[in-house]
Amino acid sequence: MQRELEILGIAASARKDSTSGAALDLVLARAAELGCRTRVFRLAEVRLPFCDGDKAAAWPGYPAVAELRGAVTRAHGVVLATPEYHGGMSGALKNALDLLDFPHTSGRVFGGISALGGRSNSNALNQLRTSVRWLHGWMLPDQVAVPQGRAAHTGGRFHDPEVTARLTALADSLVRATRALVLPPAAHGPAPERALPDAAPAAQGGRDA
Ligand SMILES: Cc1cc2nc3c(=O)[nH]c(=O)nc-3n(C[C@H](O)[C@H](O)[C@H](O)COP(=O)(O)O)c2cc1C
Repeated sequence: MQRELEILGIAASARKDSTSGAALDLVLARAAELGCRTRVFRLAEVRLPFCDGDKAAAWPGYPAVAELRGAVTRAHGVVLATPEYHGGMSGALKNALDLLDFPHTSGRVFGGISALGGRSNSNALNQLRTSVRWLHGWMLPDQVAVPQGRAAHTGGRFHDPEVTARLTALADSLVRATRALVLPPAAHGPAPERALPDAAPAAQGGRDA
């Protein structure tokens, strides 16, 4: 029997018509099309404390901490969507990650999206990658930075078809990698028969973020 994957999105922006939030919604909609259960945790809609350095703190006065930890723990894959602020991820998202620990994050597959006011770059995405590594998650090689964030979409429809294509590809990779890395082998069905090539082709360079 195929086990259903649970994909969680964490939306970091509090901005109305947030571009990173719209990009996250598109990725989650694609994951749902591929048969996943999806959920979104919008940091702007909850009240989280500042991490005080005590990883074991239960924060009974802040129920959103347990909700966040529970949602990440239940998820097989997590998409982090952040605005780029001063060359990095949003402080709200970094604080949310700091309220998590290995039991919540270890072994989950993560994908990253950023939205920027300027031209596409990987500053916030590289920070996400570093934090996920330190949380013992698997970060996908795929990532999407949406440039010219404030004018990139109308009502969730992106004006540049390449952005839509890259977000769709991110969702496809996330689901494929999560099935391979997180679900037990029995849930994958039989392994595909694949002939090995005689020699590995030479690397042909990479893609930009
Ligand atoms: C405090 C602050 C810092 C920002 N820093 C950058 C930046 O370093 N580089 C950039 O390209 N855009 C920067 N921006 C613009 C945002 O990244 C842009 O508006 C983006 O669309 C925000 O994502 P959102 O639409 O999901 O809220 C900044 C905006 C704010 C409010």
